[in-house]
Parts: sequence; C-alpha cells; structure tokens
Amino acid sequence: MKVLVLNGPNLGTLGRREPEVYGTRTLTDLETMLTNRAREVGLQVSCRQSNHEGQLIDWIETEPSDAIIINPGALSHYSLALADALRSSGKPVVEVHISNVFAREPERHRMVTAAAAKGLISGLGFEGYLAALDYLASLSD
Ligand code: DQA
Repeated sequence: MKVLVLNGPNLGTLGRREPEVYGTRTLTDLETMLTNRAREVGLQVSCRQSNHEGQLIDWIETEPSDAIIINPGALSHYSLALADALRSSGKPVVEVHISNVFAREPERHRMVTAAAAKGLISGLGFEGYLAALDYLASLSD
C-alpha cells in the first residue's frame, strides 16, 4: 500500500514554529519517523509539504497512492475545496493534528476537512502520524 502524507501551511517550519505548541522536532524528523515506521509495517510513504491549498489539491488528484494522511494546518478549519478533493479521491484518509485543536481557540474547533476523512487524530504530537500509519497498515492486512 502506498500512503501519501501531506502537510499543509506552516508545517514546513516545525521545530522553529511555536515550539511550546508543536515541539522542537522538524518536518524532516517527522518524515524520517514515517519512512522508518512504514518500512516496519510494510507500507510505502511519500511525504509532501506545501503552504498552498491548490498544490495540496493537485497532489491529492495526481500523486499515485492508496491512502492519504493529511495535516491540512489551518486549512482544516475552512477549506471546502480541500475537503472536496479528499472526498472525491475515494481513498481512506486520516487527518492528523499535532496539537489538540479542541483544547485551543474556539475558531479551531470547526473542522471542515475532517468530515471528508475516515478518522481524526488530534493532540498526540508526531506520534499521531505513526498511529495513522499503523491504522492504514491494518487495512492492508
Ligand atoms: C495544526 C492545528 C491548526 O489549527 C494549525 O493552524 C496548524 C497546525 C496542528 O497540527 O496542530 O497549522 O494543524
């Protein structure tokens, strides 16, 4: 199974960005963790990050994959376009947030893209992405 891992706006600056919220590990650290775990559970991952909604949608439409893990960043809270793209991919989607968005400002409680996902993991840090990968591996058993 090929898993496309997408990180949206401002996730390229992990490690420097609000470390008290998102920790000190970088996007490269995250992608290395995912690549290693994927190898252990017999999946292939390809990881992409963009600050641009349209680029994320283009990847959802064109990148070959069987499943998607996505952290849409702030787009989660308002992007119907991204939700539509995820829904029309027809693939199992797991949405991940590093922080617990429900313990944060009320404007982060509105989750638009999660409605197009099979499930949502929020607040488990980088380990949430690994949990998503393990879940997807269980689908291909
Ligand atoms: C985030 C939560 C969003 O509200 C925020 O805009 C982000 C990061 C998270 O991973 O916790 O950019 O998606």
